[in-house]
Amino acid sequence: MEELSQLIEIQKLIRNLFSDDYTGHDFFHMERVATTAGKIAKIEDADLFICEAAAWLHDVGDAKLFTDPEETIKELDLFLQRIAMNEYQINKVKEAIQDVSFSKGGNPTTLEGKIVQDADRLDAIGAIGIARAFAYGGANRNYINHDTNKNNTIQHFYDKLLKIKELLHTEAAKKIADERHRFMEVYLLQFEKEWSKTKSC
Ligand code: ADP
Ligand code: NI
Repeated sequence: MEELSQLIEIQKLIRNLFSDDYTGHDFFHMERVATTAGKIAKIEDADLFICEAAAWLHDVGDAKLFTDPEETIKELDLFLQRIAMNEYQINKVKEAIQDVSFSKGGNPTTLEGKIVQDADRLDAIGAIGIARAFAYGGANRNYINHDTNKNNTIQHFYDKLLKIKELLHTEAAKKIADERHRFMEVYLLQFEKEWSKTKSC
């Protein structure tokens, strides 16, 4: 099977697996991460096919999204064999997605892994990142904001999202991050302004 046909099969799998997600990890998240990873891969001269395939698949088997992650990874392995990926490609893809997760704090060792992690992190910042954070917060019954340290999404910006810019690996990703980071800062200033002006005491 040609690489393009393999990517089409991968997209079909992702459409099935993530069609019912309301936490910011839907099909369109995978699509954006794959597109961004592809762009960075070209600039950084990485293996484009591995980056795109791994980016589409990076959330498959994530413990917060799948009830049986080990079983899901086994099924992924069989799927990749079924679409005729060779052993080298399967290992490269699995290696690239293994350390992507931000919440798990993984540190990828391969260039392809770094690119997929950068693309995933870029999708957590900027306008879309803001939308995803509130979607995630709502789906997990967190407050939008709170006076105490109860779980709330505004706090998540300070805990994680504003730190992402500094954690990116590739120069190409850092360039994309600049505008998105600034937009979040502007957004937070406006949010705090509206919040404080409407306090009753
Ligand atoms: P990963 O999927 O790489 O493990 P995370 O789970 O940390 O990364 O984040 C995935 C998405 O969910 C991001 O858009 C992130 O902002 C959002 N998210 C994760 N934790 C929270 C939280 N506590 N509040 C709001 N959004 C969150
Ligand atoms: Ni992701």
